[in-house]
Amino acid sequence: MKSGLEDVVAAETVLSDVDGKNGRLIVRGVSLDDLVTSSRYEDVLELLFDGFFPMRGSVQPALGAARQEVFAHVAQTDPALVALPPVEGMRALLARLDDGDDLAAALRLVAAPSVFTTALLRLKAGLSPIAPDAGLPHAADVLRMMTGTMPSMQQVSALDRYLVTVADHGLNASTFAARVVASTQAGLTSSVLAALSALKGPLHGGAPGPVLDMLDAAATPANAPAWLESALANGERLMGFGHRVYRVRDPRADALKGAVRVLAGSGAIDPARLALAEAVEAAALDLLKRKKPDRPLDTNVEFYTALLLEALGFSREAFTCVFAMGRVGGWIAHAREQALDGRLIRPMSVYVGPMPQVAA
Ligand code: COA
Repeated sequence: MKSGLEDVVAAETVLSDVDGKNGRLIVRGVSLDDLVTSSRYEDVLELLFDGFFPMRGSVQPALGAARQEVFAHVAQTDPALVALPPVEGMRALLARLDDGDDLAAALRLVAAPSVFTTALLRLKAGLSPIAPDAGLPHAADVLRMMTGTMPSMQQVSALDRYLVTVADHGLNASTFAARVVASTQAGLTSSVLAALSALKGPLHGGAPGPVLDMLDAAATPANAPAWLESALANGERLMGFGHRVYRVRDPRADALKGAVRVLAGSGAIDPARLALAEAVEAAALDLLKRKKPDRPLDTNVEFYTALLLEALGFSREAFTCVFAMGRVGGWIAHAREQALDGRLIRPMSVYVGPMPQVAA
């Protein structure tokens, strides 16, 4: 067996298909390219939740109400919780939500990463948290809760594009964790907590912050090839490149690169920053091709995520939380699919330890 289980099919799903050979992502019958051009995050939630919860009409008002409901928990933060890295503080607050399995519980869990992250970021900065506005679309309210001002249309559509792009992605590590917990019938909060804990690692959802560290260290387009070469020679991984499933370019990278270019066109990204990122990407791809010829390594979702979230004003330590704001929809749909299937996930292991001594 391969210890990363890459050859194991562990679930049947109607939710999404990751075609690693052709670089294609399908979410409930819709290709990512089509999904990102016309959808807000609420539309993708409706798509993912269809058949798993009784959906009546638009999810937007109920999600707005759920944001307000979970905001009550923000009052229970204490200095020790605020001092934690945002993803850990958000996880601690999320653990306070009850373990339901109906639509109301699901929407509270969708709302929670957004409401808790924006509140914690403000508390960390010595500012008061801003209460949700239930009447606003989700992405607009997330940005408003963070900054206190109404975002521009370009900012809202960039965040929507990000949340839609990352909403679901086959049986990635965090989604698998969610499904394992759901298979025990533990409830949605438990599944989401397991998933969030898996997402936190740098090999999964923790990469975009380090992408910016890499850009900062490379410093200039001219310096990028030498810096990358020395990082690789020191055994480091180039963040934002490589994927367990994709053997070609991650289609999500282009979906986000498009949004980054729009933001750059509206002045929200310094052209020098974009030029540096493009130079680092080109140099990294060239280097990986030369140094790892046996392993096709291309740009993954995290590379342009880093630029997009930076331009929207999220601090890099909060990037994993923003990933969770989007992926939580997929986790919940997968957890429901698994729980409704009703089968406990319980694989086997091969014992390779010592055997008990047999008495002579
Ligand atoms: N930079 C440099 N080398 C990389 C690499 C990267 N980003 N990703 C993989 N490799 C190399 C490994 O060093 C290994 O080389 P070797 O055979 O010479 O030792 C080879 O490619 C296979 O790596 P492996 O760890 O088996 O691949 P994986 O399928 O487990 O890796 C990732 C998938 C995502 C964990 C990996 O590509 C990675 O660490 N990327 C950087 C982190 C990142 O961007 N994460 C976000 C993922 S969306």
